Amino acid sequence: MEKLVVTGPTRLEGEVTISGAKNAAVAILPATLLIDGTCTIENLPNISDIKISCEILEKLGAKIDWIDEHTITIDTRNISTTKAPLDLTSKFRASYYLIGAMLGRMGEIEVGMPGGCKLGARPIDQHIKGFEILGANVSLEKGTIYAKADKLEGSSIYMDIVSVGATINVMLAAVLANGTTIIENAAKEPHIVDVANFLNTMGANIRGAGTDVIKIKGVEKLHGNSTYSVVPDQIEAGTFMLAALATKGDITLKNCITEHLDSIIAKIKEVGGHVEDYGDSIRVWCDKRPKKATIKTLPYPGFPTDLQPQMGVVLSLADGTSVINESIWESRFQYTEELNRMGARITAQGKTAFFEGVESLHGAPVYSTDLRAGAALVIAGTAANGETDIYNIEHIDRGYENIEGKFKNLGANIKRVRE
Ligand code: EPU
Repeated sequence: MEKLVVTGPTRLEGEVTISGAKNAAVAILPATLLIDGTCTIENLPNISDIKISCEILEKLGAKIDWIDEHTITIDTRNISTTKAPLDLTSKFRASYYLIGAMLGRMGEIEVGMPGGCKLGARPIDQHIKGFEILGANVSLEKGTIYAKADKLEGSSIYMDIVSVGATINVMLAAVLANGTTIIENAAKEPHIVDVANFLNTMGANIRGAGTDVIKIKGVEKLHGNSTYSVVPDQIEAGTFMLAALATKGDITLKNCITEHLDSIIAKIKEVGGHVEDYGDSIRVWCDKRPKKATIKTLPYPGFPTDLQPQMGVVLSLADGTSVINESIWESRFQYTEELNRMGARITAQGKTAFFEGVESLHGAPVYSTDLRAGAALVIAGTAANGETDIYNIEHIDRGYENIEGKFKNLGANIKRVRE
């Protein structure tokens, strides 16, 4: 078992390069199943979710060559089975994208219910509704999803809930369907645009990604033979921006798209941080204690739920009492108990948490309850006095490339220890 040991307090200073977006990459990889050929994908984050995605694709018959640790060439001409390996698909959430992609490619898929962070109920009814409207039969037996379609027919689908996963999954299924599919009330996250851009580069006809109406005109085939670079990760970027705030530091982020960070920049300024925006890089610094704030998580372009725990660390240290309302995931305040062990004063009640700001945190043994909670604990440990031992770090490794290396380069005293 490995843990991260962080000894603080440290004021983080310097430059960090942002990796490719996990939540785009975990959709682009299964999207390659729609291609009858080869393609090259660059700027993949070097994280465990990507390694598992690649293993799953290989088990289905894809051939993957690693050009370097962030680039693969993938040949999906010889997909040989429609049964996804349960031991791997149960390890992460994005395995649900195999349904849309394989329905499009093979007309059939058998896959276990997806795993991933325990953030409360994570239904996939909107995905299933979309597939069924396109003409698929979907059933669920003993934790396995069976989906089958003779031919998918384009149609109009209104999403009852704004869902990142359902929007992308239905888009995947619609790319090779007969006729036009219209997704209304679609999610608008940058990774949705990125998946659409990837598919269009490979020969798809998708318009409107990034707005709430997406139109997909079915095409005969995706030709591949192209190279695509994954968009920078706006959640990793936001994590470092908030780390600058929590440690009263000064961090410049390279390789980011600052347009994707508007809601975070606005909150950083509101709590007294400073931002210099250069378009593809950004400097964030803070020279005094952050001010209190009120935050509600929302689908993009609102404040992202995936930065809520990291913001929670900042507000734990702010002057005054702050409030966060979590509107996406019912169990995303589990990290608050861990921060309380470090001296924070947080009361979580259902979807709302109250942060009575303290002057400083102290080190403690803490448990990473999910991916973003883990990132929040690394920030808290860096800001806190003394030693923080962070356990369950496999959650962090799922989504952050070389987190200890990046924090260390910014001055943090952090090491990975095997117990
Ligand atoms: N929902 C339904 N039915 C559905 C789908 C979603 O009721 O069929 C609900 C969910 O329960 C939730 C809301 O709709 O309350 C939004 O869920 P969404 O489908 O957008 O989430 P997701 O696609 O499962 C992705 C990210 C999450 C991120 C959310 C919200 C991936 C692989 N995961 O999940 O990322 O929190 O969107 O932005 O893209 C993370 O990276 O740490 C993470 C959890």
